[in-house]
Amino acid sequence: MAKMWAGRFSKEEDEAVNDFNSSIAFDQRMAVQDIKGSIAHATMLGAQGIIAQSEADAICAGLSSILEDLQSGALSIDPTAEDIHMFVEAELTARLGDTGKRLHTARSRNDQVALDVRMYLRDTVKEIKTLTKTLVETICEISSEHTHTVMSGYTHLQRAQPITFAHHLMAYAQMFYRDLTRLSDATARMDEMPLGSGALAGTTYPIDRQMVAKLLGFSGVTQNSLDGVSDRDFCIEIASALSILMMHLSRFCEEIILWCSWEFKFIELDDAYATGSSIMPQKKNPDIAELVRGKTGRVIGDLVTLLTMMKGLPLAYNKDMQEDKEAVFDACDTVILCVKTFIPMLKTMTVLPENMRRAAAKGFINATDCADYLVKKGLPFRDAYKAVGTLVAHCIRTGEVLETLPIEEYKDVCDLFADDVYDAINLDTCVNGRDVEGGPAPARVKAQIEAMQKKLASY
Ligand code: ARG
Repeated sequence: MAKMWAGRFSKEEDEAVNDFNSSIAFDQRMAVQDIKGSIAHATMLGAQGIIAQSEADAICAGLSSILEDLQSGALSIDPTAEDIHMFVEAELTARLGDTGKRLHTARSRNDQVALDVRMYLRDTVKEIKTLTKTLVETICEISSEHTHTVMSGYTHLQRAQPITFAHHLMAYAQMFYRDLTRLSDATARMDEMPLGSGALAGTTYPIDRQMVAKLLGFSGVTQNSLDGVSDRDFCIEIASALSILMMHLSRFCEEIILWCSWEFKFIELDDAYATGSSIMPQKKNPDIAELVRGKTGRVIGDLVTLLTMMKGLPLAYNKDMQEDKEAVFDACDTVILCVKTFIPMLKTMTVLPENMRRAAAKGFINATDCADYLVKKGLPFRDAYKAVGTLVAHCIRTGEVLETLPIEEYKDVCDLFADDVYDAINLDTCVNGRDVEGGPAPARVKAQIEAMQKKLASY
């Protein structure tokens, strides 16, 4: 494809250099945004009398026909074009002749690309937010069925205190809800239209930036032309929000992987979301969850790529910044792919409450409750803690649990113990008793789920 800057240059570009320099392979996905941005720009040029109204009209019609042809497949992208911006402009000129050459008046590719990436991310983050919302809704639905499913909560991956499966799941709902709000924050800050920044120093033409912003659905315009073309915080912020989201998803996957191991067997994944082994006939592997956990590294890598690429750049535009796209696009693509696969995996898994309860019945997760029982009878907590520690050590030696330990043995350690201790350490009592805001008592978790569903409905 002939170069736009042929006037300044006397030699053709080397083919390998052209390929190296080109971004068309990955920025062609912004074709729709590029064309819409150009239509708004041309409309403004016409309205301001910077180009003739008839030419503005012809340019807008030409751009619309290019978009239609791209979408119908009648026009394909030229892989030798330097980037999507050059491709669209060249195609317009091929169709309209000299009129097409007027489109780039009062504009640079620097402000054009800054606009296109913002518009592309605005659309894509919207899709990610919808998916994330569905994920939180799904978690709420599954949780509603398990507010009485007692399981052990863990610290250090050691059985710690009694909770319910719903309470555990809802912890993730809270995390993903915050991810949702982080994405909204990032897109709100990105909501400034950069066209008019020109290459770096604005333009001498009497443009109307507010009009372009309005046409493209931005709530304002960037306030500094240097910043307008050299800011990529919005990519970094989105990649950062996506990295946090993936980190949450990865922790969830790690637990799913543990839960479907024979060591836990708290859940069983649907056959459609697991794979077999090529050699071991008994295997059912949680590959999907593992792959999501693995892909988290990619997204974090994308964030690091963006930060590293930007950290040494002098103002304003530098070609390094072309590297923003593959990183931020990959982060978006990966999150979409992972969340889309994760939701049905979660929906179709079988929960095994008996196994959760069986595991909860071992591991002395009611030891704190047993100590609290003594505290309620007047013993200072530290003394109660020590007494129950003695009982637990005894049980471990004899292979018993607190529930089955005879009352005499309790009394040997502390005479405040009476028959009502068995009710106090019953796992259901322990869960129900944790009746604080944010706690695992079924009524509290129900309230948590309802509050979340309400927040989601108005999100
Ligand atoms: N393809 C370029 C990019 O993605 C567009 C901007 C080019 N601007 C320039 N001055 N070379 O960054």
